[in-house]
Amino acid sequence: MSAMPGEREPITSVADFDLSDYAFWARPMRERERAFELLRALPSPAFYAEPEVSFAPRGPGYHALARHADILEASRSPEVFCSGDGGATNIPDMPPEFAEYFGSMINMDDPRHARLRRIVSRAFTPKMIKQFEADVEAAAARIVDGLLEKGPGCDFVTEVAARLPLKIICDMMGIPERDYGFVFDRSNRILGGFDPEYGGGDPATAAEHLLTAGMELDRLVQDLAAYRTEHPTGDLTSALVNANIDGERLTGQELGSFFILLVVAGNETTRNAISYGLRLLTRNPDQRALWLTDVDGHAPGAVEEIVRLASPVNFMRRKVTRDHEMNGTLYRKGEKVVLYYWSANRDESVFTDPLRFDILRTEGPHVGFGGPGPHFCLGAHLARREITVMFRELLRRVPHIEGGSPQRLYSSFINGIKHMRCDF
Ligand code: HEM
Repeated sequence: MSAMPGEREPITSVADFDLSDYAFWARPMRERERAFELLRALPSPAFYAEPEVSFAPRGPGYHALARHADILEASRSPEVFCSGDGGATNIPDMPPEFAEYFGSMINMDDPRHARLRRIVSRAFTPKMIKQFEADVEAAAARIVDGLLEKGPGCDFVTEVAARLPLKIICDMMGIPERDYGFVFDRSNRILGGFDPEYGGGDPATAAEHLLTAGMELDRLVQDLAAYRTEHPTGDLTSALVNANIDGERLTGQELGSFFILLVVAGNETTRNAISYGLRLLTRNPDQRALWLTDVDGHAPGAVEEIVRLASPVNFMRRKVTRDHEMNGTLYRKGEKVVLYYWSANRDESVFTDPLRFDILRTEGPHVGFGGPGPHFCLGAHLARREITVMFRELLRRVPHIEGGSPQRLYSSFINGIKHMRCDF
C-alpha cells in the first residue's frame, strides 16, 4: 500500500532513507530505530554521499558504522581511523578558520592530542573532580528545591536537567553565575546549529552562527584566563593557565578551544542524559520501582543504562589514513567513517532486547562515552557523578515525577531534548 500525500513511506529497506538527508533526523524515533536495525543487518557498512554544506567542498563520502564490533575496532585503531584532518565532530571537513575555536583535542591525533590530553588531565584529575562532589550534591538539592517551588507542569529540561551540568562546569572553570545564561545560550547555538530555536535552520548562515558563538565564548575565557594568571584560585582555569609539564603549557588558542570543548561537551550531553533518564523512568515503571528499592545500590547500573539508551552523542567521525581491511570490509585512504554510537548501543548481537531499559543489565560495554581509544570521554567520571546525584535527589524527594512527550533537538549529531513537561 502506498503512502497518502504528506505521509512518508514506512522504512522497510535501506533504500527508504538517507542518513545525509537532514530530514531523516527529524523522523520519529521508531523510524530511526528501524533504519539502524537495517543498517546493522547489512553484510558490510552502507556508504553514503556527504551532505552538501555551504562552508566546505563535498567530500568523498562515508561508511556508516552501525555495528558495535566495527565501532570498537575502529576506536582501537586511531592510526588508521584518525580524528584530525578535518575533524571528528562533523562529517564535512571543518574549514581551517574553525580551528581557532573548535580545533581542540577531540579533533586531533597523537602526538598533538596526547600532549594536550596530558596537560589537561593534570588539571582534570579525579582529585579535582572530587573537590567538586559536595558542590554537585548541594547544587542538585537546590535544583530540586526550585522544582518543588515551580510545581508540576514546568519544563524539566530548563528547570532541572540543564541546570546541574551548567553550574558544575561553570564553577569548575571559575565562570561567575552572571555568565551562566550566556554560556548556556552559546553552547546551544554551537550544538543546535540547525535547529531554528537556536538561531539555526538556514544552512547558508549556520557556519557564521557557529563561528560567532565560538568567538564569544573564547572572549569570555581569554578574559578569565588573563585574570587568573595574575590571581590564581583553585579553579580549573587557574590550573590550566599555570599547568606546566616539562616546560609546556597551553597556548591562548589551545586554552580557548579546550574551554569551548568543555562547556559544550560537558553541558549538552549530561543534560540530555538526565532528560532521557526521566523519560525512561516514566515509560518503565517497573524499573523505577526497582531503583526505588535501593536508590544508591542500583544507581551505577541505572546510570550506565541511561547513557546507553540516551546516547547523547549520536556519532563521531574518523578519516581513513591508509587502505585497511576491517571485519571483512576494505576502507580506502581518504574515505571517512562515521561511528554511530547510538546504533552500537542498540546492537542486538551485544544487548539482549536492546530497546528495553534494564537497570540490572550487565552486557556491554556500551559506547555512549565513546569506544576504547585515546579519545574516550574525559568527563565520563564527572558525568556519571552528576547523573547519579541528580537522580538520587529526584528519587528521594519527588519519587513519582514523570516526563511528558519530549520536544527533540533537530540535529544529526546530538540526540537532544529541548523541552519536556514534567508532572509530579
Ligand atoms: C553523558 C554525558 C557525556 C557523554 C555521553 C559524552 C560523550 C563523549 C564521547 C562519545 C566522546 C568521544 C569522542 C571521540 O571518540 O572522538 C567524548 C569525548 C570527550 N568528552 Fe564527553 N561526554 C559526556 C560528558 C562529558 C563531560 C561532563 C565533559 C567535561 C566536563 C566531557 C568532556 C569530553 C572531552 C574533553 C572529550 C574529548 C576527549 C579527547 O578527545 O581526548 N564529556 N565524550
